[in-house]
Amino acid sequence: MSKSFLRTSLDGYKPYVPGEQPPDGEDWVKLNTNESPLPPSPKVIAAIKAAAGESLRLYPSANAAPARQAIATHFGLEPAQVALGNGGDDLIEVCFRAFAGSGDRVAYSTPTYALLEPLCRLHEASPSVHPTGEGWTWTLEFIEDPAPLKFLVNPNSPTGTHHGRRSVEHVLGRSQGVVVVDEAYVDFAPDSQLDLIRDHPNLLILRTMSKSYALAGMRIGFALGNPELIAALDAVKDSYNMDRLAIVAAVAAIEDDAHHRKIVDFVVSERAWLEAQLSEKGFEHSASSANFVFVKPPLSTSAAAVADALRERRVLVRHYDREPIAGWLRITIGTREQHERLLTALKEII
Ligand SMILES: Cc1ncc(COP(=O)(O)O)c(C=O)c1O
Repeated sequence: MSKSFLRTSLDGYKPYVPGEQPPDGEDWVKLNTNESPLPPSPKVIAAIKAAAGESLRLYPSANAAPARQAIATHFGLEPAQVALGNGGDDLIEVCFRAFAGSGDRVAYSTPTYALLEPLCRLHEASPSVHPTGEGWTWTLEFIEDPAPLKFLVNPNSPTGTHHGRRSVEHVLGRSQGVVVVDEAYVDFAPDSQLDLIRDHPNLLILRTMSKSYALAGMRIGFALGNPELIAALDAVKDSYNMDRLAIVAAVAAIEDDAHHRKIVDFVVSERAWLEAQLSEKGFEHSASSANFVFVKPPLSTSAAAVADALRERRVLVRHYDREPIAGWLRITIGTREQHERLLTALKEII
């Protein structure tokens, strides 16, 4: 066994493992990391090209001022209610820096986004893990957990479950610390809880442009909340956590609402189609409000075996092997052509 140079508090540390990212240009049907099946807005591409010039020798705006202003305008907020990050993941990490240090509890309900567990280790925070109840519901213990930092992933990944306003308000009313609602997938769901930031000073909403804006490669996330929470994030973030190209891309993306709607409508309609097709093939599915479906192959077919056999056919999906979701697959919504290839491959396998 080779020597580990990691600090001793990270003995046995298991990093977050992102989904496989094969080289561009190979003929993969990539349905494993919840990227957009449609390309970004042409206006975004034009803005990036225009910004890729001589000014790159200069640092970007440290607080991503143009993006902050454009996002604030879009949501009817003040710039002081918006923070930007290098993807939603960066902002999740910044929440740990700001709100939960060594020994502090960080509450979340499982199964959920697998990044939270390694972040607890990195920050030496104490994970307060609450398995969900029947139908992936939040338990009273979770709702009432007094942790200084609590995460709600809504809609959740990988289950796709969306909790409505009353459930989220219930958590907010019973929590004592900061409640971060990670709305990475909310554009594909019936509603957002964004307007609750008006009455709940402890609420932070996290969004990403990786899904419904087709910009996973640009790494753009944003947080919305009351100015004191946003100031706390700004105080601990990296100085230049948004580069110049990401800033112009964020502005162009938020201003092209028609393109954003086109992506969302496409994904929501393909999701219904794919769910119906998989149900017909005997797959169990969990109702999804996200840009993926969460399904279990028919009895006696192992999800790992299905994922491996799909991979041999150049189709990538995510599978889970830890209870309570052992045997389940998360399949990103793709184009109709990608879905046809997935279904043909499944026909051969099952
Ligand atoms: C639940 C959840 N939150 C946040 C993110 C962050 O996305 P990004 O860092 O690409 O903005 C993801 C990405 O898949 C996610 O699944």
